Amino acid sequence: MAATVLLETDCPTEAATASLAAALAARLRAGDMLALTGDLGAGKSTFARAFIRARLGDADAEVPSPTFTLVQSYEDGDGVEIWHADLYRLSEPEEAYELGLDDAREAGICLIEWPDRMPADWWQGALEITFTIGGKGERHVRFSSDDAAWAGRLQGLVA
Ligand SMILES: Nc1ncnc2c1ncn2[C@@H]1O[C@H](COP(=O)(O)OP(=O)(O)OP(=O)(O)O)[C@@H](O)[C@H]1O
Ligand SMILES: [Mg+2]
Repeated sequence: MAATVLLETDCPTEAATASLAAALAARLRAGDMLALTGDLGAGKSTFARAFIRARLGDADAEVPSPTFTLVQSYEDGDGVEIWHADLYRLSEPEEAYELGLDDAREAGICLIEWPDRMPADWWQGALEITFTIGGKGERHVRFSSDDAAWAGRLQGLVA
């Protein structure tokens, strides 16, 4: 995706990553997609878990990693469906149809780990969040998108 970098920040602790996710969660709506990228263990599921807990308004909600199920779905208090997918084990892009992601990306909020495994045009317009691990274990978090509308929506997200 030909993306423009919109925002970059560092999360020194897991708690910092979780509060960033919660702040973003308050700004999203049905039809939005987050493409969570970065190496194994970089923090994609940690971010997604905190995002989902914030939307559910339940800090202790069970949010298992969809490593083996590939997708897990939730419904928040406003009736918005939240889909959390980990496509690392997707055998071919077309399998994403069988998971129901084609409908989900229009109807709800989708958080997709390893989005490069699905058809490329499915994540056009998504907000891509890329995690990299720094020298002190901190997570460098970069927001980018090919949809300019995200710039305004991220304004003030990070102090
Ligand atoms: N600042 C931080 N932000 C997020 N996670 C952190 C941070 N510091 C340490 N961690 C740890 O890093 C790990 C991140 O694992 P996580 O499952 O979120 O990675 P992932 O990107 O989803 O990997 P995978 O590609 O295997 O799904 C967790 O064990 C978490 O506790
Ligand atoms: Mg993960």
